[in-house]
Amino acid sequence: MDFWKTIDRPIIALAPMEDVTDTVLRTLLLGLADPESLHVVMTEFVSTDGLLHKKGRRRVIHRLHVTTEEQRLLREKQVRIVAQIWGNVPENYVKVIREIADSMEFDGVDINMGCPVPKVVRRGCCSGLIGNPSLAKEIIQAAKEASPLPVSVKTRIGLKSIATEEWIGHLMEARPAALTIHGRTQRQMSDGRADWNEIAKAARLRDALGIDLPVLGNGDVQSVEEARGKCAEYGLDGAMIGRGIFENPWLFAKEQRERSIEERLALLWQHTELFDRVWGGTKNFHLLRRYYSIYAKGFPGAADLRAQLMQTESIADVGSLLEKSG
Ligand SMILES: Cc1cc2nc3c(=O)[nH]c(=O)nc-3n(C[C@H](O)[C@H](O)[C@H](O)COP(=O)(O)O)c2cc1C
Repeated sequence: MDFWKTIDRPIIALAPMEDVTDTVLRTLLLGLADPESLHVVMTEFVSTDGLLHKKGRRRVIHRLHVTTEEQRLLREKQVRIVAQIWGNVPENYVKVIREIADSMEFDGVDINMGCPVPKVVRRGCCSGLIGNPSLAKEIIQAAKEASPLPVSVKTRIGLKSIATEEWIGHLMEARPAALTIHGRTQRQMSDGRADWNEIAKAARLRDALGIDLPVLGNGDVQSVEEARGKCAEYGLDGAMIGRGIFENPWLFAKEQRERSIEERLALLWQHTELFDRVWGGTKNFHLLRRYYSIYAKGFPGAADLRAQLMQTESIADVGSLLEKSG
């Protein structure tokens, strides 16, 4: 049941990103991926309190949606999918994990102990838990007992200052199924560079404890090749890649090369069409704008096309624009 123990090393994972790594983007990336270059994907983080709240649930449940097309690709490429959840009430984790295990198709659950947004940190959630190790351990314990699904944790190297060994030591006492460590403190948000030497300390700590607990590093990785190199250099079981896909949506593909205009625009259309098919009018169409600057770049007329794409309000607008430019 615990896939973390059996999947190939180095483990390459897609990082969870709110309003980004929904079932549509994951499907698109899975379609392009070489199975040797992508082993685990995660949902956007979902609030346990929100899921248990009658009205709040409607606002967040879409984050756990996995289309049948995505399920097919996950099976075909043998990629595991993990639901990421957050909150600060152990009993709420238990309820949510039971529901996930009983009625959804996830291979594991990940607890977010890394989001640095002050609003959630003030409530003692996400990276706020770095300041409350006893509650963090209680949550992991409760989550592990809730179902047979493996429970992993994604976190940072400290709250206001670096405290890798102390904090990760606490987490390791609770024996999560895996740990992903983003090499920045909460205070750093996304500033500076991720510190992979600190991440390496966590792997050494694990070795010193003599336990079987995969440690994945995260932060600023731009390619699968770089991810593999970092795993070897820092003695890690895996690496997780997030924003790199904004530079290169083909990041997990076997063939790494410049993509032609036709390929870029075909992917742009595939993405738009899939978004429309899956979400219809239920999600803001403007969420797609973030991607237009990724697809429409690096060819003559790209800036113009990008500017016009930013004005689109519907799939029909995008279709006619692409027809004109194609
Ligand atoms: C737009 C955006 C949304 C994010 N949402 C989440 C999230 O829901 N859960 C989480 O654990 N981390 C989230 N993160 C953090 C990433 O998972 C990752 O830790 C961070 O971006 C550093 O890795 P990277 O340099 O490879 O992007 C988010 C990051 C970005 C840029």
